[in-house]
Amino acid sequence: KILILDFGSQVTQLIARRVREAHVLSEVHPCDVSDEWVREYAADGHLKGVILSGSHASVYEETTDKCPQAVFDLGIPVLGICYGMQTMAHQLGGKVEGGHKREFGFASVRAHGHTALLKDIADFTTPEGHGMLNVWMSHGDKVTELPPGFKLMASTDSCPIAGMADEARRYYALQFHPEVTHTVQGKAILERFVLGICEAKPDWVMRDHIAEAVAKIREQVGDEEVILGLSGGVDSSVAAALIHRAIGDQLTCVFVDHGLLRLDEGDMVMEMFEGKLHAKVIRVDASELFLGKLAGVSDPEAKRKIIGGEFVTVFKQEAAKLKAGDGGHKGATFLAQGTIYPDVIESGGAKSKKAVTIKSHHNVGGLPEQLGLKLLEPLRDLFKDEVRELGVALGLPPEMVYRHPFPGPGLGVRILGEVKKEYADLLRRADAIFIEELRNFKDESGKSWYDLTSQAFTVFLPVKSVGVMGDGRTYDYVVALRAVQTSDFMTADWAELPYALLKKVSGRIINEVRGINRVTYDVSSKPPATIEWE
Ligand code: XMP
Repeated sequence: KILILDFGSQVTQLIARRVREAHVLSEVHPCDVSDEWVREYAADGHLKGVILSGSHASVYEETTDKCPQAVFDLGIPVLGICYGMQTMAHQLGGKVEGGHKREFGFASVRAHGHTALLKDIADFTTPEGHGMLNVWMSHGDKVTELPPGFKLMASTDSCPIAGMADEARRYYALQFHPEVTHTVQGKAILERFVLGICEAKPDWVMRDHIAEAVAKIREQVGDEEVILGLSGGVDSSVAAALIHRAIGDQLTCVFVDHGLLRLDEGDMVMEMFEGKLHAKVIRVDASELFLGKLAGVSDPEAKRKIIGGEFVTVFKQEAAKLKAGDGGHKGATFLAQGTIYPDVIESGGAKSKKAVTIKSHHNVGGLPEQLGLKLLEPLRDLFKDEVRELGVALGLPPEMVYRHPFPGPGLGVRILGEVKKEYADLLRRADAIFIEELRNFKDESGKSWYDLTSQAFTVFLPVKSVGVMGDGRTYDYVVALRAVQTSDFMTADWAELPYALLKKVSGRIINEVRGINRVTYDVSSKPPATIEWE
């Protein structure tokens, strides 16, 4: 395995992810572990290499964090990245100076010599025959003098020592960030370090993560009981399946059905978790409560607040009951959440002590404190696609795990203006037809349009238009189909769905859903439109 020592960079978990992608087990630990801890950690001989992460701090000013000296006595390869390089240089007798200007962004790095790390890895070669790498840099300080035994491995115009190596001791260091995708060859470089230099065996698979995670959950929970809010979304579903695998009936899931879910969604969630996995699930049918609270409310933000607020109230009531326990139960002490790594980063709660806060996330913090429960977050270190992979490995159906995102307020923000049960029922049926046909229609490569789009759904417009059906005139509601392609949901393009698909969907909705007589297609991109209509 590979040990990653975290000095507080926002992207430390990305290093871990790259190592996992190379099919090697990695563990992230804080940089201030003791020398003894390091020696003990390496004692069983499984540790093949150490990576020192970046940091937000500079070696001299904001931090005195050092790499435990014992790391350099293990006789195994060490890779320092950014701050990790600087502390390596500093601790091994080189010199680091405060940069006069902060360097942030793309840079072209020239590789020197033929180090085992960078040999034959290049984006392009200069006419003089130098290998060049397009990389991402973000640093203020820099190494200005190589430690004894080191040679220059890479340089840029503004950073003459952008990489250094002591090949005899197998110490390597890079000022740039190989873990981010902006560094085109970054994955190849980290793979070279882990597989080539550390000679770690590429035998780790997601299934192994299940065993590790299960052991960790069992250790953390012991014989106590856990509550989990199951929404039917990917993250909470995978968390539930994983925790259930670990502790079985010590887990109780609470599924609050607010009546604004997709067609048959509530039944499908129950069928999956109660029927197939035999997990304990309490289904709270709160649709009347929610619809009652929403009556007469048409402002989108007001609707969101009501739905979010009621959700928390209902969930808290159930959780309080479970906490109190009953005849056979002593009461829950843990609240599990499907927090994933991007949520942690966004809320600034990264394990790294020094990661800066960007924005707070509803998933992190709040509820457990209010409920007086301990927090269990088994997906905290994983990225979305890894969570999906884990879900499949746990036996969840791929259709569930690869579903488009669905907003917490559900159909509440897809029914424009006031939410009524009649509208929700019409919308559910129309949307199910749209999704079914997206799954049916394939492109030339055989991929379905559901998989070719990032998010697709139907919006209910509470206006009536005139139509004709058979001999009669109709005066019914309108729906809009929305399908977008995006990589980050911050910007999005409307999807160029085939006309044949649109035609089929429109024909089916108007024929099968009495009450809707007109279907439109939304051809607005984000920005200036948003993905949802409210
Ligand atoms: P917009 O409409 O802002 O949507 O372009 C971007 C992404 O966020 C989702 N979304 C929400 N998710 N609660 C959620 O959990 C919300 O209130 C909410 N509003 C929008 C939306 O579905 C899209 O994926």
